[in-house]
Amino acid sequence: MPLPEGFLQELKDRNDMTEVASSYVNLNRRGRNMVGLCPFHGEKTPSFNIYPENGSFYCFGCGVGGDVITFIMKIENLDYIDAVKFLAQRAGMNMPEDSYDDSMAGLRKRIFEANREAARFFYKSLYSEYGRRGLDYFHRRALSDRTIRHFGLGYADPERSSLCNHLKSLGFKNSELISANLAFQTRNGGVADRFYDRVMFPIIDLRGNVIAFGGRIMGDGKPKYLNTSDTPVFKKSANLFSLNNAKNSGDRSLILCEGYMDVIAVNQAGFQNAVATLGTALTQEQALLMKRYADEVIICYDSDEAGQKATARAIGFLRNAGLNIKIITIPQGKDPDEFLRNKGSDAHDAFKNVIEGSGNDVEYRLNKLKAEYNLELADGRVGFLTEASKILATLDNSIEQDVYISRLCKELEVSRDAVRQQIQKYGKKRYYERRKENFKNLRQNLSGRNDKVNTDRYKKPRAATAEEGVIAYIIKNPDRLSYVEKELLPERFQTEFNRKLFEYFSEKIKGGGDPLASVSGDFTQEETAKIFQIVNSEHARLANERTAAENIKVINDEFFRQQLSDPASADMDSIAEQLKRMKESRQ
Ligand code: UTP
Ligand code: MN
Repeated sequence: MPLPEGFLQELKDRNDMTEVASSYVNLNRRGRNMVGLCPFHGEKTPSFNIYPENGSFYCFGCGVGGDVITFIMKIENLDYIDAVKFLAQRAGMNMPEDSYDDSMAGLRKRIFEANREAARFFYKSLYSEYGRRGLDYFHRRALSDRTIRHFGLGYADPERSSLCNHLKSLGFKNSELISANLAFQTRNGGVADRFYDRVMFPIIDLRGNVIAFGGRIMGDGKPKYLNTSDTPVFKKSANLFSLNNAKNSGDRSLILCEGYMDVIAVNQAGFQNAVATLGTALTQEQALLMKRYADEVIICYDSDEAGQKATARAIGFLRNAGLNIKIITIPQGKDPDEFLRNKGSDAHDAFKNVIEGSGNDVEYRLNKLKAEYNLELADGRVGFLTEASKILATLDNSIEQDVYISRLCKELEVSRDAVRQQIQKYGKKRYYERRKENFKNLRQNLSGRNDKVNTDRYKKPRAATAEEGVIAYIIKNPDRLSYVEKELLPERFQTEFNRKLFEYFSEKIKGGGDPLASVSGDFTQEETAKIFQIVNSEHARLANERTAAENIKVINDEFFRQQLSDPASADMDSIAEQLKRMKESRQ
């Protein structure tokens, strides 16, 4: 059963779009709207818009849009019903009686519960007699019992059914254990543990739910780490290990490590703000997630070649997300965990020194570049400066650019003008490339060729635009629906998606209430984005009686033109109506 419209209306009234969004995004007023840097894709100029008028948002950069519920779904990574619950709680509202618990929300809840029980079970095992091996392993790696408790580390014994038996005794169904990726289906239809004979690292989200596990083998076998695959509650590309701890560190700075053990060792040395990706390279989504809790990220990857490659890749995403970057180079080519272990009780101070000695990403890239050239030779210097100019041309901050120019000029004894000219040359090139790219995207959007929601749009762009005008008009002027309905039958819509919208909103308007109240629940996220794109377009803002009449005429004309071109299938009444119209318009 869908949620009552009145409830949704109140939920939206009490969770102001601007207010909710502003706790995630820095917003500035622009005319009647608010704008900011989009939290859903990396960008440097704001294209994320909030429309206080109808409580919605739309990003022109990535095409994401919707109402406050959609916003919470996307930014908190929740499904529809959980986003509604989140907002209800925020506003101190009760969910309606017998509110629907759709099966997906129900399953998610069961997975959270199963994971929590599993984490408890693994932790208990670690301190039981048969868990001695696991505990010894952690102790050998210099983890204290306090650290073990803090991270809720555990032990999965070598039996292949211990966890399954335990969870089944607590009432969990096989299908739930499989959905949680805690178990495999066996050939005879039973289940077997996914994790066995490993030490366990629970992964906890920002609300304290156990969403996944990583398990490390204690010897040399493969894979070294086994991780939970994506499940209905876990997407590895969108979460970070230990962000739940790091977000409370209070200093808007995060240390990005490569692995679980590094994060834990850094924590034990007294730095709460360490995080790691979950067995994959950093994604743009994770960089944007970090931006919500930090202004600066200190990259602390291994100093091997793989680590250096990963660093280069991470820099791109982090810069894109608007984060300042520092890069730590661990001395003596070790990973942070080994480095800290060797320092023993001096770990804190040693790491602090390393952080203080870290350079930013530009220094890091220039240093790497420098190592490729022989600066004793004129050729080498020219080569280095040419490439260095390319790096400096990518900096948007001119003061920052200037600092590096000065430094390079002094070091290499060349004139500032020469370097500046070179940078300007690359800067211009970059500017035009970006512009060309933007223009291409814009043109594609306007042509509607990549409209994935209204797939007929590009065939009938003129009629589709008119249809969207009509839809926006009735939403803004519900009292004009009867007029529109008199002039325009839904059958005459040329694109199927718009016809569906027209029928949907007509019905909502007749039912009273805000026609937009249930959109985010009744449509997919892509459809919802499209609807709010229509509702917030310039076209919609200018909708009035005159433009509505014009739009209706465009749709009718297109319809009749089609009928006349194919008289065999046309119906006589509509041809008669068309002839009458033509006569009228001639008078
Ligand atoms: P590393 O191989 O660098 O391991 O993998 P590590 O963090 O130093 O671990 P220890 O010190 O040997 O215990 C870094 C990260 O890559 C992922 C894990 O998240 C790991 O923490 N990884 C690695 C996997 O997911 N699977 C693997 O088989 C190996
Ligand atoms: Mn390691």
